[in-house]
Amino acid sequence: MHSLLPLLLLGWWCLRLTATTNADNLKFYITTECSNNMNYTRGSAFQANLDAILSSLPDAAAASSGFAENTTGAAAPDKAYGLAQCRGDVGASDCRSCLNDTAHEMASACPGQKNAMLIYEGCMLRYSNASFFGDPYTSNPIFQLANNENA
Ligand SMILES: *[C@@H]1O[C@H](CO)[C@@H](O)[C@H](O)[C@H]1NC(C)=O
Ligand SMILES: *[C@@H]1O[C@H](CO)[C@@H](O)[C@H](O)[C@H]1NC(C)=O
Ligand SMILES: *[C@@H]1O[C@H](CO)[C@@H](O)[C@H](O)[C@H]1NC(C)=O
Ligand SMILES: *[C@@H]1O[C@H](CO)[C@@H](O)[C@H](O)[C@H]1NC(C)=O
Repeated sequence: MHSLLPLLLLGWWCLRLTATTNADNLKFYITTECSNNMNYTRGSAFQANLDAILSSLPDAAAASSGFAENTTGAAAPDKAYGLAQCRGDVGASDCRSCLNDTAHEMASACPGQKNAMLIYEGCMLRYSNASFFGDPYTSNPIFQLANNENA
């Protein structure tokens, strides 16, 4: 019986992946990570660059297979780095809409913070005042998700 468990789990995961391709589940919330007390100054050039990048990333990612990185501003402390990614099976229009919602939620998810990441089932958005492109993400990479179906 024990040897069946991995197969059952794999089956559940496949079913779950198939069941989550509709637009509503794409906004299933996974996690938020905010910097602690690394506040930017309200009305600063950094905030303007951050706003610009958050509003351009959804279209950019939707137009290039669900992934985009970009920066705005010439140099620190004004420069903002942003990354947007959609789950691989999410189409361009759902990708844009998931990221657009996420971009609008950033300000309330991590108010005033220089670093933030917001992850939903269908898409993730991350920004920082420092470059993180190509760096492995090592803090808190483990999430637990419960199956909400009857077994
Ligand atoms: C990067 O962001 C800027 C500001 O929003 C935008 O003008 C530019 O087109 C973006 N570049 C790419 C490659 O998306
Ligand atoms: C982006 O999201 C905002 C707020 O959720 C909404 O008002 C706006 O219509 C959306 N824009 C697009 C292009 O989906
Ligand atoms: C940072 O901004 C948040 C939200 O506006 C605020 O609650 C917090 O007190 C600020 N922290 C500092 C150190 O300014
Ligand atoms: C980002 O902001 C933090 C906190 O203010 C600061 O310590 C760090 O030097 C900044 N990084 C860059 C590249 O400006």
